[in-house]
Amino acid sequence: MKIAITTSTFGKYDSRALNTLKERHIQYVLNPYGRKLSRGEAVEVAKDAKGIISGTEPLDEWTLDQLPELKVISRCGVGMGNVDRAAAEIRGIKVFNTPDGPTLAVAELTVGLILNLLRKVTQMDWELKAGTWKKRMGNLLHGKRIGIVGFGRIGQKVAELLLPFGVEVNYYDVCEVSSNLSCSPKVLQDLLSWADIISLHVSNRNENGSIIGRKELRLMKNGAWLINESRGEVVDENALYDALKEGRIAGAAVDVFQQEPYNGPLAQLSNVIITPHVGSYALEARSAMEATSVENLLRGLGLV
Ligand code: 8YV
Repeated sequence: MKIAITTSTFGKYDSRALNTLKERHIQYVLNPYGRKLSRGEAVEVAKDAKGIISGTEPLDEWTLDQLPELKVISRCGVGMGNVDRAAAEIRGIKVFNTPDGPTLAVAELTVGLILNLLRKVTQMDWELKAGTWKKRMGNLLHGKRIGIVGFGRIGQKVAELLLPFGVEVNYYDVCEVSSNLSCSPKVLQDLLSWADIISLHVSNRNENGSIIGRKELRLMKNGAWLINESRGEVVDENALYDALKEGRIAGAAVDVFQQEPYNGPLAQLSNVIITPHVGSYALEARSAMEATSVENLLRGLGLV
């Protein structure tokens, strides 16, 4: 039986999940490109596979039609925007994800990125390495208003970690959320104009396109900060570039992009921190996600 593993770093930092497959004599192929796959590459890698441990590559109707042997998609991750679940169901393909795996890793990184942006750590790091000793003034996190867009597991964990800093946190979510945290829902427009810092934790854009487009960026306070660790499609990257270049947005931390690997103009700006989609890349979190995705795969294939 063949299994395809399409996430780009599976087993690279912890071999235990791969060992589980080896012990069961399950043959697997790993992603040979070391990055997110295109549809065509996903088909090439997963040809004849009964199961995929998948990353964020598109597993849409066309792709599933090229993979007639496929019985299980086991996402090593939480976001399911790349999987056409209805098409999978029609084809009798079981779909799993690792809903809890990335929560703490993404939330901790969010706190780190916010502090980094406020104190301009990355900017001064680059300047000093280039020979410039310049003391830049930053801002306190204490007293700031934080707006969280998407108040699911990750959004709530971000709020929980931030509240002890003495901040106010409110949120926008399409669903009604029940939570014990002292945070209130707001409509998106109000949240955007209320907050000093907006952090995005939704799994997808809405049907009309990006959630944070030109109009939404204009609603944000002058000098606000934006964090996107959700999905690239959630933000209009060109509009964000313009807002950062004009200084309307003081700074942004962007971990996810419309096209990954990213090779675009945000890299030219000193008030943006960019990272290569590493929200979940804390070893403890990745190891747990890899182990869970193997368990889910085996369960889906009826092997446990
Ligand atoms: C990626 C993520 O899935 O959990 C998610 O939805 O965005 C990430 O954890 C992962 O990096 C791809 O393997």
